[in-house]
Amino acid sequence: MSIGQAVSRLDGPAKVAGAARYTADTPMPDAAYAVIVPATRPKATITGFDLAAASAAPGVIGIFTHQNTPKFGELTVPLAGETVLPLQDDRVHYEGQAVALVVADSLERATEAARLVQVFYREEPFEADFLAGLDRAEVVPEFFGIPLNRAMGDVAAAWSQADVRVEGTYRTVDRHHSAIEPAATLAVWHDGQLLVHDATQGVMDARTCLAQALHLDPATIRIKCEFIGGGFGGKGWGWPYQILAAMAARELGCAVKLVLTRAQSFTAHGYQAATHQTVALSARADGTLTGMRHDTVAAGAFVGEHVEAAGWDSHPLYAWPAFSTTHRLVRLDRGSPAAMRSPFGGVGLVAVEIAMDELAYELGMDPLELRLKNHADVDPSDGLPFSSKKLRECYEEGARRFGWSKRLFAPRSMRDGRDLVGYGMATALLRAFRFPAQARVGIDRVGQVIVETSTQDVGQGVSTVLPQIAADVLGLPVERVALALGDTILPVAPFTGGSSATMSVGSAVQDAAAKLRDRLLEAGANGPEGYAGALAARGIEVLSADGAWAPEEGAPTSALFSFGAIFAEVRVDIDIPIPRVSRVVGVYSAGRILNAKTARSQMTGGIIWGIGQALLERSGTDPGLGRFLSKNLSGYLVPVNADVPEIDASFVEEFDPHASPLGARGIGELGAIGVGPAIANAVFHATGVRVREVPIRPEHLLV
Ligand code: MOS
Repeated sequence: MSIGQAVSRLDGPAKVAGAARYTADTPMPDAAYAVIVPATRPKATITGFDLAAASAAPGVIGIFTHQNTPKFGELTVPLAGETVLPLQDDRVHYEGQAVALVVADSLERATEAARLVQVFYREEPFEADFLAGLDRAEVVPEFFGIPLNRAMGDVAAAWSQADVRVEGTYRTVDRHHSAIEPAATLAVWHDGQLLVHDATQGVMDARTCLAQALHLDPATIRIKCEFIGGGFGGKGWGWPYQILAAMAARELGCAVKLVLTRAQSFTAHGYQAATHQTVALSARADGTLTGMRHDTVAAGAFVGEHVEAAGWDSHPLYAWPAFSTTHRLVRLDRGSPAAMRSPFGGVGLVAVEIAMDELAYELGMDPLELRLKNHADVDPSDGLPFSSKKLRECYEEGARRFGWSKRLFAPRSMRDGRDLVGYGMATALLRAFRFPAQARVGIDRVGQVIVETSTQDVGQGVSTVLPQIAADVLGLPVERVALALGDTILPVAPFTGGSSATMSVGSAVQDAAAKLRDRLLEAGANGPEGYAGALAARGIEVLSADGAWAPEEGAPTSALFSFGAIFAEVRVDIDIPIPRVSRVVGVYSAGRILNAKTARSQMTGGIIWGIGQALLERSGTDPGLGRFLSKNLSGYLVPVNADVPEIDASFVEEFDPHASPLGARGIGELGAIGVGPAIANAVFHATGVRVREVPIRPEHLLV
């Protein structure tokens, strides 16, 4: 029995020893190096170039501008990060957009030549201020084909008849993914085939984007990605730099390597867009919720369609009889945002869960008690039962582990020496995205098993969990199972996003392994010890089976969400109001846990990510220049060890047969959800200051 065990990462030793080969490390003899020349204006027309110095620089092989770059095909796939592609005309749509691509025989020479490219611009007025654009926000009816703006019951009547009401405006800011591994593409054409090593969360989608842009048959493109050093969504979409690298390789007839600089990571593959959210809650005097309204305005871009749909997952949170959610978008002259770890609900619950805390204080009711009282037993939007929901157990276990009962209700009432101490909590909820997946499992005559699927490991642990699943089904130790992944020649798997991979791809692996086991038994093996012998007796070198899984079709019969209860303690010095998180407890209801260790690591990492959301991460925009202020981690704060306290993350026992045959639901992005508002609520409890935006900074508390 391998499923559920705390198996250490099978890819851990290779990563620790430096043997894991990330995209930019892939040996490609004679590769040329491509360097992007980024636009220095947010909106402009290019009136000309002076390429004389760059062209004459040593080692330069080619320079591409809109004047000599072939026309790209239209990108129609939903996972195209930007649909307006660069080097196609004289338009500059955002600061950082590629306006030229320089290719030379070494990185240093390409970098120097790129510096020598002179671009002449005719500047144009630009829109960079999100809040100044709220008035011109456009309604967004749907996202990925799913309606965004929903309503049920009479919210206005609930509001006017309520005993207690709260309404507030809440803000989240632009944030960058900040993966440690820079995005990289290595493209080489060989015999009419395009081979691309790419740091991507979706080899199949990257292939579709390249095929569309370069007018190619997808069958002539192979994309590989063995390891990813952090993606968080930034590597989940198709971006212009990948297309530029492949285009240059084709035009120049040589291998081309393009690695984004850290600064370019801030403009070349998305970010989480700022939001401005209004939440209104109405309740009876006993705390029963009667209505919820959640209106989101998100910052966006003219060049892409991404919407930070913060209210998408608000409706199933509590048993309100009336609700309404709306979404609007303010397009700006900047690169497109994208999903970033725990998008949508992870952003929206900051608003709703702070509002719930405010309501608790209006009612004079314990915040946990308010949530228990309004626990949703069905999805209020359609009455569907949840596939499996153990949120009550999460609240109970979390409160016990945290010591919630020791909390004094009044803000600013708990002290420890010079510290004001605050306890805050919030609910976490994550939609279970599921996608069709395929896998193949094979075994050879010495009993070595191989699992093959095109899925990607973004670091979440599928490299360990998928072999565990095959080992479990076949009754073999996990050490006997190898995995081949991240390659478009392997059975089709979806992009690694939306916390879907383990449940979707894992179910396909389980299916393939079960079919293989049946074939082995048919071949005469009477158990795991007999596999190799049965193959040998029949002269079979390798026996394999294809498996697949897909979400059931037709109208859903249950609502698929994962849940959690988050409790946070913060400390704020009475004179120096820097909030510090001192403890976090998260207890989760996420279906069956397939690997206790990697799952717990996921939640721990998510909670740390939530600390960043609550207190640190923020990409400011320079209003005069229309660009992100910081293009370096020195000016973009992510949590470091000193910011991270003791974290207690655990799961309740659960098996969800409706989500997947494995009993698993999505967990990856659940960890970062609810942490931001739990910390914000703890800051209020510590200080008595209600801050309705994250990150909460010392200046918010100087009142
Ligand atoms: Mo995730 S933000 O769907 O990579």
